[in-house]
This record gives sequence, structure tokens and C-alpha cells, in this order.
Amino acid sequence: MSKRKRGRPRGRPKKGKVYTPHLLRGMKDILPEEQKYFDFIESKAENLARSFGFEKISLPILEEAELFKKGVGLTTDIVQKEMFIFEDLAGDKICLRPEATASICRAYIEHGMSNLTQPVKLFYSGPMFRYERPQAGRQRQFHQFGLEILGSDKPVADAQIILFARDFLQSLGLKFTIQINSLGCVDCRKIYRKKIFDFFKSKKTFLCKDCRKRLKRNPLRILDCKETNCQKIVVQAPQIVDFLCEDCKEHFTRVLEFLDEVGVIYNLNSRIVRGLDYYNRTVFEIWPAAVPKQTSEVLPSEEKQGEQTTETSQSEEPSSQSALGGGGRYDHLIKSLGGQQTAACGVAFGLERIVEEIKKQQVKLPKIKGPQIFIAQIGDLARQNALRLFENIRQEGFRIVENLNKDSLRAQLEIANKLGVKWCLILGQQEVLNKTIIIRDMTSGSQELVDQEKIIKELRKRLK
Ligand code: HAM
Repeated sequence: MSKRKRGRPRGRPKKGKVYTPHLLRGMKDILPEEQKYFDFIESKAENLARSFGFEKISLPILEEAELFKKGVGLTTDIVQKEMFIFEDLAGDKICLRPEATASICRAYIEHGMSNLTQPVKLFYSGPMFRYERPQAGRQRQFHQFGLEILGSDKPVADAQIILFARDFLQSLGLKFTIQINSLGCVDCRKIYRKKIFDFFKSKKTFLCKDCRKRLKRNPLRILDCKETNCQKIVVQAPQIVDFLCEDCKEHFTRVLEFLDEVGVIYNLNSRIVRGLDYYNRTVFEIWPAAVPKQTSEVLPSEEKQGEQTTETSQSEEPSSQSALGGGGRYDHLIKSLGGQQTAACGVAFGLERIVEEIKKQQVKLPKIKGPQIFIAQIGDLARQNALRLFENIRQEGFRIVENLNKDSLRAQLEIANKLGVKWCLILGQQEVLNKTIIIRDMTSGSQELVDQEKIIKELRKRLK
């Protein structure tokens, strides 16, 4: 994590000035107006995950830093420069989790989940932390919803994860594309790595500074570089699908056949390499649909693009940088963390990016049921009585609101009107003394005086 070079440390006021706290860079408050998008997305995801037979797991936000160094990989951007690492009071190196797949594997090992019926199907959601340069769609704290199938090497597991992704984003009303590739196994990747190393080495002078570094460390990452010059070179690069061994080819073919079977539309895209080291075989990303500016080198099944890739009014070209989600197979992660050999695969979605896409694609959220009743009070005695009535009516299952702060009836009726409430209950000093209450029809303006003890019956009559 880089140190702040200039200025006062955060949180320390200028001399003579009162300290005012600020959000940390790359962090966001999710205000109620925005929260409804997250609630909508998460409830869809959770219901769907359960209907696919996944169970919920909640994991800590703090983990040992070593877990991600080992799990995600030392050469990845995440581990090299994006981890929030610090020492706790005992001097242990801990970090805010940058993702949850490694944590799930830790939990799988720690709780002996290999003794359960395999595969174990889990889902999770929560905040993740990456010390990245904040920009559109990229924050330092963001939220993911993810699912993992642990203990299956079957191609049908990969297909089920991708099917979930299709059903989930479709249920939100979004248009998107599924980009899929196979990274093969250690053996086929070794051969491919050598091929592209030689290829990119011959073009080294045309590569950007970062890619020249990647050439030695991880040449596969050059394939998803966003620099225009690098992209021009990448389109000519050898493709991994041509170097898959027989087993990996068979696995990938079976995944695609399963996807065809359930009508999932995908693009074979040899540039999907993912930014985490634990993947093998199937990898995929879900991109928001858009009109590509340039022809990208999307492979064979182009003619299969259909409903999911319908054009939108977006102008920018989608890419890994704007992915709504991504995942793949990670058959060796659990073993590398000290568990038994356990094949697994999964996906995670970025909730902030999905929210932005819902807004961009102008998807209408389902209407949340508004309040039915407003209770207005005039004077202190009435306020005291109103709180009790509010509680009784609320407990009977009515959606009731109030503004116990306001004294003027006019102001309270204005609020009720703004909220679109049909019935207003009015309580003044006289009504409290007589144990009565006024029911006002906010549409017609007509009013009726009723006994307080009959109020529930009267409301039921009107709100049946
Ligand atoms: P990932 O591709 O690093 O994969 O992240 C998944 C999604 O999280 C991305 O597609 C994106 O929507 C969102 N995301 C990532 N970084 C940021 C950020 N800085 N700001 C906002 N959104 C972001 C994983 O994390 C893997 N654990 C996925 C997985 C699960 N693979 C197998 N199982």
C-alpha cells in the first residue's frame, strides 16, 4: 500500500480549525435512495441461489494476509499492490479481504467440509477491499455476491455456475454478454505460456511499460491489456484453445455442450485470462452489452449471439474493466492451502457495477409498497397518545408513518400527501380526552370521528 506523500495525515485538523470527518478515498456511503438497488439485486440473487440448491455462508472481513498471497497469487495485481494489509496489536499481518473465494476454501478446509456430501454449494455476499485507483466502476470498498461449487470436477458444475449468472442477470432485466475461455491445465498452459512469451518477446518494443513487466512475470495478462497498441498486437497472438491437451479440450467441449443444452448464449473469447492466479480450465466474465467500437476478435460462436447481446445506447466498449461478474474453475486452490485435492468452480458479481448498469439500461425496479396510513397529532398530549396508537396499528400489520417532530396539522397533511397516503388519522387534545380519533380520506378530504378502540376495525374496513 503506498504511503501518503503530501499534506497532513487524514483526520488531523488544520491549526485552529475544527476537525470534520470525510469518507476515505474509494469508499462510498450507500444512502437509502441507492440502497433499494442493492436490496433488489441481493434478494434476487439470494432467492435464485437457494432455488439452485446453494446455502449461505458468512465469512469474516479480516483474514490472514498470507491466505491471499498463497491463494490469489504473488504475481497478481491484487497481491502486489491492492491489498489493505496491516499488523494487528499482536503483530500479525492481517488484511481486509480482497475477494472471498480463498476465504471460502479456508473455511472448507477448516470446517472439514470434505466430509459432507460433495459437492458443497455455497453463496455469500459482502464488502471486499482493493487498494485500486478509484474511477468509474472501480472502488476500494465494493460489494460482491458470489457462489462456489466445491468438490466437483464435472463440466456440468461449470455450466451450472454460468447458467446461474445468465438467469440472475436476466432476472434483473439486464442485457449482457457471457465471454468464455479455457486456460487449460498446468501442462497445456506451460506450452502456451512459452508460445506467447516468444510471440510477445518478438513485439516487446511495441508493448506498454506494464506489459513489458508482465512478459516475464505473467505473459498471459498481456492478453487483457487495455492499451490500444498492446491490443493491436494481442489480436495476432496465438490462442490458448489451440494448445489445450485432450482432457482439457474434452472438458471445455462438454461445458459448451451443457450451455448449448440449456440455451445459454456465450462468446468464445481467447482474451479472457482473469486477474487471479488460481484458475485452471474454464474462465468467464459477464460484460454489459454494448456496441463495440472496434471489431474485437470474438471467436467461433459469433453467429450464436442473440437476445443477450442486443445493442444498447452505451458508447464505451465493454471489457474486463467493466465486467459485471467473473469466475471460473480453480481445481488446485484448496490443495495449495493445505486441504485435500478438491476441484471447484464459482463466480462473483460486483454489486456496484450491476447498480450502475441497471441505471444505464434504465431497468425499472419493482415498486416498494408505500405507507397506507399517516398519523398526525396536535399538541404534546396527542403526541404521547399518537405514539401508542402508532405502535398498536403497526403491530396489526398496517404500513403506518408519522412525523412526531411536527406540530402544525397543515405541515403533517402536506407530508402525508407527499407520501401518497390515502388515510390520515388526526389526533388533537379534544380527541385524546374523548378517546376518539378523526379518520380523513386524503383524496376527498371528508372526515369521520370514530372511537379509538374501534380504529383497527375501521381501518380494516377501508384497507381490505
Ligand atoms: P473478480 O473478477 O476479481 O473475481 O471480481 C468479481 C467482480 O467484482 C468483478 O467482475 C467486478 O464486477 C467486481 N469488482 C472487482 N473489483 C472491483 C472494484 N475495485 N470495484 C468495484 N467492483 C469490483 C473474484 O473476485 C473471484 N473471487 C470470483 C470467483 C468466484 N471466481 C471463482 N469463484
